[in-house]
Amino acid sequence: MCSGRLEGKVAFITGVAKPNSIGFATASVFGQEGAALAIADISDKTHDCAEALRGLGYEVSSHTADLTKSDQVRRVVAEALTHHGCVDVLVNNAGLAVAGPSRPPYRNLADMDVAKWDFGIAINLSSQFLVTRSIVGHMIERGYGRIVNVSSTTGPVLACRGQAEYCAAKAGVLGLTRGLALEVAGQGILVNAVAPGWVDTGGSSARGLAAGSATPLKRAAQPIEIARLIAFLASAENTYMTGQLIVIDGGNGIDEYHGPKELDR
Ligand SMILES: NC(=O)c1ccc[n+]([C@@H]2O[C@H](COP(=O)([O-])OP(=O)(O)OC[C@H]3O[C@@H](n4cnc5c(N)ncnc54)[C@H](O)[C@@H]3O)[C@@H](O)[C@H]2O)c1
Repeated sequence: MCSGRLEGKVAFITGVAKPNSIGFATASVFGQEGAALAIADISDKTHDCAEALRGLGYEVSSHTADLTKSDQVRRVVAEALTHHGCVDVLVNNAGLAVAGPSRPPYRNLADMDVAKWDFGIAINLSSQFLVTRSIVGHMIERGYGRIVNVSSTTGPVLACRGQAEYCAAKAGVLGLTRGLALEVAGQGILVNAVAPGWVDTGGSSARGLAAGSATPLKRAAQPIEIARLIAFLASAENTYMTGQLIVIDGGNGIDEYHGPKELDR
């Protein structure tokens, strides 16, 4: 990989609290590419990640906040701006497929309570609105910005049973991406979304790993493969792509045949 594509840039990356995750891989690649990093997560473990990233030689500030809460978002963005002076790049990565106050996590829509629906929308969609709203004004003032929203194939491209709230939120991320991309297109700010398929983040379920093995590339993605795509979209090398959803799924979505194997050729 060429280095230095983010030299001199400050990147605010959400959802960085686990070493084997898309957020951590993104922070690592951005550091390699020369960016200073502000990482934000609800978990205190974001500080451990910051320490690990500093150990690699990168300049990092870490901030804890529940990014579904407007006041906490404003606080951490203000902290990051005070620390770094500006934010050139935003990666909205925080999100959860399987979570929420109501368990078990997978619920058919007919049985889904409002709390689970609201939680899924809040963490996977509203958090991206709140963080973006707090940062995009600074980008507009400076006439430069790159925003990358982490969506999923689940929702805008495909669907999983029992996850209607996640599907709706991740499809909503595409709408948010396009709506904002148009608003800021004349102001030096490009806004795109990435849609990973199955990713092996260490905590992947047997189901997730099996599904990864069944893709045309016969494996789940590694987080760094998603991170490299995010880094391109976040860099000044991306000069003409905005409002797009980039699918990175090992070809999972292109295989039209779902019948018995013996009838396929
Ligand atoms: N892993 C996959 O297979 C996969 C596939 C497609 C899309 N994605 C998306 O990629 C992103 C990263 O996923 P990951 O698999 O690396 O998972 P992850 O669990 O490592 O990352 C999610 C992070 O978000 C943080 N978070 C949760 N709630 C929060 C809140 N209220 N405020 C602030 N931070 C909060 C968590 O603490 C965690 O660190 C998510 O948006 C996910 O939906 C993942």
